Amino acid sequence: MAVRDTRIAATRIRAGEAVIPVNACANRDPSVFAGAETLDLARRPNPHLAFGFGVHHCSGAAFARLQLQVALRVLTRNCPQLRLAATLEALRCRRDFAFRALESLPVTW
Ligand code: HEM
Repeated sequence: MAVRDTRIAATRIRAGEAVIPVNACANRDPSVFAGAETLDLARRPNPHLAFGFGVHHCSGAAFARLQLQVALRVLTRNCPQLRLAATLEALRCRRDFAFRALESLPVTW
């Protein structure tokens, strides 16, 4: 909630109005990321907001990263032939205001 009249970029916000940041959009901001629509796992620097920012930065971030590393390592070790079982065009994102996620990811191995 804005405690006083202010402005963010070109948008005027009055005291008492709510502002809902959408991290999923921020992470594709072309003024921050070169090739913002491209999945680039080696992007450096990578100031994404997936784990939030500042004092409320996700306190489980290191745990979440470790979980994903273990899960992906085990998955690719056990299913070395793992591959997509759909065309990229057929993949659909969930209609979710806050998080970007696929409705499903068909795979085969
Ligand atoms: C990929 C997995 C995860 C993502 C994308 C994620 C994302 C986030 C984000 C965006 C915030 C900031 C919310 C805000 O600004 O209001 C947050 C906060 C938080 N997360 Fe996570 N999180 C993940 C996993 C976890 C895990 C595994 C834990 C605990 C084991 C955890 C515990 C927390 C806590 C306690 C906060 C609140 C921190 C605070 O407000 O001081 N998160 N998370």
